[in-house]
Amino acid sequence: MNTSAASRRAFLASAAAMGASLAWGRAEAKPSRINWTERRDLYPQGVASGDPMPDSVILWTRRPATPGQAAPVLTLEIAEDEGFHRVVATARAVPKLESDWTSRVLAGGLKPSHVYFYRFTDQTGAGSRIGRTITAPTENSDKTVRFTFVSCQSPNEGAQNAYMRMIWEDERKPADQRLDFVLHLGDFIYEVTVYPEDAPNGRYGRRVREFVRYPHGEKIGNFHIPTTLEDYRLVYQAVLNDPDIQDARARWPFVCMWDNHEFSWQGYQSVQVFGGKARPGASVKLMANQAWFEYQPARGVRLADGGRDVWVSPPVTDVLPATYDDNGLGQEPSNIAAISSLKLWRSFRYGRHLELLLTDNHSFMGPNPLNDERNVFGVEGFPFAPDEVNRIIDAGRTYDGGKPPEKIRFGTDEAPNWAKDQPPGAVLGAEQKAWFLDRLGKSRATWKVWGNSMGALDCRADPQNTPKAPGRPEWPADGGYGMYAVADWAGHRAERAEILDFVRDHGITGFGTVAGDRHAFYAGVLAPTLPPHPFEPVAFEFVTGSITSVGGGEVLPRVTKKDDPLRSISVYDPPNGAQAVSCIDFTVLHGVRAAFELQATHDFDKAKALHNPDVSPHLSFLDQGGHGYGLVTCTANGLSCEFVGIPNPNERATTPDGGPLTYRVRHDIPLWRKGERPELKQTVLEGDVRMFT
Ligand SMILES: [Fe+2]
Repeated sequence: MNTSAASRRAFLASAAAMGASLAWGRAEAKPSRINWTERRDLYPQGVASGDPMPDSVILWTRRPATPGQAAPVLTLEIAEDEGFHRVVATARAVPKLESDWTSRVLAGGLKPSHVYFYRFTDQTGAGSRIGRTITAPTENSDKTVRFTFVSCQSPNEGAQNAYMRMIWEDERKPADQRLDFVLHLGDFIYEVTVYPEDAPNGRYGRRVREFVRYPHGEKIGNFHIPTTLEDYRLVYQAVLNDPDIQDARARWPFVCMWDNHEFSWQGYQSVQVFGGKARPGASVKLMANQAWFEYQPARGVRLADGGRDVWVSPPVTDVLPATYDDNGLGQEPSNIAAISSLKLWRSFRYGRHLELLLTDNHSFMGPNPLNDERNVFGVEGFPFAPDEVNRIIDAGRTYDGGKPPEKIRFGTDEAPNWAKDQPPGAVLGAEQKAWFLDRLGKSRATWKVWGNSMGALDCRADPQNTPKAPGRPEWPADGGYGMYAVADWAGHRAERAEILDFVRDHGITGFGTVAGDRHAFYAGVLAPTLPPHPFEPVAFEFVTGSITSVGGGEVLPRVTKKDDPLRSISVYDPPNGAQAVSCIDFTVLHGVRAAFELQATHDFDKAKALHNPDVSPHLSFLDQGGHGYGLVTCTANGLSCEFVGIPNPNERATTPDGGPLTYRVRHDIPLWRKGERPELKQTVLEGDVRMFT
């Protein structure tokens, strides 16, 4: 245990920068002297811990004042046992009204790779539930590291059965095989919420339940969005009132990065976008950042207020940026002040075998040129955008090594290339990207895992191969591949390629990403380009299905018309009138010919015989309606990722195991050497995954 005055002083400084008070581990453990009585009702959002390092972790609770009583003053105790007979640190924590009664403590001077228990008790003896946390191994430790990664939880439209399953399994594992932490890749909250009366028949088969009522807020379509700090705080409280989310936060340290919904669904930087129209939102971004800061036990550095324990927002005015620089940064002082108020990109080292790099993919993302109304190519009826056209627009003046075409052509359509003098679409921003590449280049960990809120694996199909039929739309024969989503890294391929080229040029191995956001399970390898361009993968990627949120695979059978001549691309109708299911995954993995064959013959083998090897050579597994979580294990020789899939979590499971599984599929990646490619080996441990492989 490191108890030197110098390291304690350094901790004090970093605790201050995080707006946390400090607890310091002592050499000798002592029994608790506090008369603690558990009163969960007084700590309605439970307890949490986050961002573990070998000697420290952040501990959190929320204890609102009881009306008519003195403001709470809490004692935090950290012990080596659940009975608190071996307490190694205590600290005072004072929740404040200005922080919505949340409180955070940086606990330092702890032992590495160690399980601790903690609890908060007020001056009357009323105590929080007991939390459990785990410190990271030291940098030279050979320990196997295990973590799960999750995203997209929504008590508004479902249950958190995935966490029940995660807890149930972890409790039954031997101590040395339990999880070290949970990586939460965002959509921890959904700022867009639906009130039950606005969707009496539910949404896409889900029951919409009473969740949060914004005292202020604004209604847009069927959604309500927050407009004040109080609104944002209330949605965090509502999420944390969920018993399974609360149990998970009490059991493991969380490492959290936000995705889009922590601020605004279609927003970027401090700009909100509704119905395609931009709205200046610097003041709203500050509210969103403040609420995140108050409710997440994380080592985010607040730049706005010089490190006081209460958030202070800089003054801003809500003005849309008039111009953007070459890295996509909106040139408006209020925009820059708002997005700089909380710096969340950071990295963690877990022993010899894991370095976890986290990036903020939304605060610096530029306007997406693929959303520009001048990008209009496509064929009515096909759910795709032309792959190559999107590459041209996204890359702007950097396309084809700086030789963008003057005109864009798709089939018989032709239009001037309006993007030819523009910089490419931007995600990370200049400063964060420089940090990320520097960190990646210098990391000596066996596995360098990018905790990436957004997916990067392309999701595309080959509409040019659609079997012709009377009344069926035709994609131009030379129109090339068609892509689905463009909002994430798959729509920012120039910057994605810049990162992957860096990996290749520096001979970096053992690199890959784990991602969320897509409400889908993906396993595959990342390459700067796909056929007909060269296919040279340099990294792996796993995307986790949502904890709760509705996925595309759930939606398609509900919205695809029975007589749609392209129905077989999206939906498979099994024989004998059985319920239609999405087959979008099959289409993406094998091509449209295989999907039409599956519908015609109901025979997976016959259908897979028509597999197009060029459509998705990068994918091993795809389930766009999947829910659950990913479980990663890192050792000296390999990394594995297990997808734990659960059925639609419409209602809370009635059994403590979180209910049945749909499948359990593992991908193993042996550590590859410089010049070699990452290879995924798939093992189906449980379930029928014929549609997803
Ligand atoms: Fe989401």
